[in-house]
Amino acid sequence: MTSELLPDGGISPKLSQLADLAGRYARPDALVAHGGHVRTIAAGHYTVSGLSRHVRLGEFVAHRSATGIHLGEVVRVEPELTYVCPIEPGEPIGIHDTVIRKGAFRVAPTDSWCGRTINSLGEPIDGLGPIPNGSIRRSISNSAPPSMTRRRVETGFRTGVRAIDLFSPLCLGQRLGIFAGSGVGKSTLLSMLARAGTFDKVVIALVGERGREVREFIEDTLGENMRKTVAVVATSDESPMLRKMAPLTAMTIAEHFRDNGDNVLLIVDSVTRFAHAIREVATASGEPPIARGYPASVFTELPRLLERAGPGAEGTGTVTAIISILVDGDNHNDPIADSTRGILDGHIVLQRSLAEEGRYPPIDPLASISRLARKAWTPDQEKLVSRLKALVHRYEETRDLRLIGGYRQGSDPDLDMAIKQVPIIYDVLKQTPGDRPSPDAFADLATALKTGSGLINVPAQPAVHPAR
Ligand SMILES: Nc1ncnc2c1ncn2[C@@H]1O[C@H](COP(=O)(O)OP(=O)(O)OP(=O)(O)O)[C@@H](O)[C@H]1O
Ligand SMILES: [Mg+2]
Repeated sequence: MTSELLPDGGISPKLSQLADLAGRYARPDALVAHGGHVRTIAAGHYTVSGLSRHVRLGEFVAHRSATGIHLGEVVRVEPELTYVCPIEPGEPIGIHDTVIRKGAFRVAPTDSWCGRTINSLGEPIDGLGPIPNGSIRRSISNSAPPSMTRRRVETGFRTGVRAIDLFSPLCLGQRLGIFAGSGVGKSTLLSMLARAGTFDKVVIALVGERGREVREFIEDTLGENMRKTVAVVATSDESPMLRKMAPLTAMTIAEHFRDNGDNVLLIVDSVTRFAHAIREVATASGEPPIARGYPASVFTELPRLLERAGPGAEGTGTVTAIISILVDGDNHNDPIADSTRGILDGHIVLQRSLAEEGRYPPIDPLASISRLARKAWTPDQEKLVSRLKALVHRYEETRDLRLIGGYRQGSDPDLDMAIKQVPIIYDVLKQTPGDRPSPDAFADLATALKTGSGLINVPAQPAVHPAR
């Protein structure tokens, strides 16, 4: 122990200067001035002596090196040693360097963050100059509001994507997952959903994406909506800590807007890369894997994050979360897909076979479910959709039979109707990012099916979805 540390683990006046610097992101009263020294260094983590009695799991510490102050997260605490994962890879760490407790990591968003692109630490990366901080600093590891104080989710909205508005319509405050293998169309569908006009604010977390895709997503697809959007970006080449923090920072910004009464859309692309980042951090700190290499902490962090989305207390707004989940090798039952499906209020399944047929967005209408659809449909629409699903099912289950010429027209009136109508329905569902968002999917369907032909009667859409 050097003279900078006092015998009780407190710090000298010289070190309190470092503590002040480290407190840049922390509320001053949260920074209890305790310090320790680096004992061992390994790839991915280092250990510190003298801090174990003073820190909690998930808190941040600041390490001073020749190149400045660096942050790290406490990932394991033992009686004598604290394990820390540095936020920046390649940080120069030396044995006996001083490390100071910093407390929870906090950000202070304001409305002026809209239109900006930031990193997981809340720092601007768009070259448009500094961003001002708001008056309230929020911990990025906040808990979800108590369930009994939250408003109910019951107001439907239109996304503009016909396949969703018809078959799996959504409500404000809902949490929806988009499940697909790699390259099937998750990010493209998310970019189409980000243009929904209903929301006051949009917060986007791009986790582990390729750098090229980030600018494309932000500049090409958001367009006008960028004015009300905050984008939080941690690309694939950034440290696992930064990738792990991006959705947490984005969620915290969304919660800030929600508490100010806004209806917020939160998009996370992708939650699987968030889970991969947690796995990397956990593996580096020695946490054992329990399912397909994933440690137990992944399965506690996922619900902790997703539970925070949803409606706030009375008098506040909502956070509608739409997240993408990469299903490894198109296996929809891999551990991350499985555990997130149970937490969410709905899932949209994208099929590679539909993408290969050029049926974009490749949404499988029969496998996709919105658990709040009944609150967004009128009773007539609900009846119609159940009829449409029956027709699509009939059409698909007889596909092979019809291909080998095993069906004679006229033998089954229901199948005859399906053969006539389903290709038209599939055409209505086709949409590319360049197409105008559909203001009324039911009206589009009615036009395509030529209402009045006596085959299928599509009920008119009320101007606003009813809250039931
Ligand atoms: N709605 C659509 N209309 C036209 N083409 C589309 C559509 N959706 C996806 N595509 C095509 O599929 C390609 C891959 O889509 P996208 O990048 O969205 O997939 P992804 O599932 O996000 O991939 P990854 O797993 O690599 O992140 C796009 O480059 C585009 O060519
Ligand atoms: Mg993608």
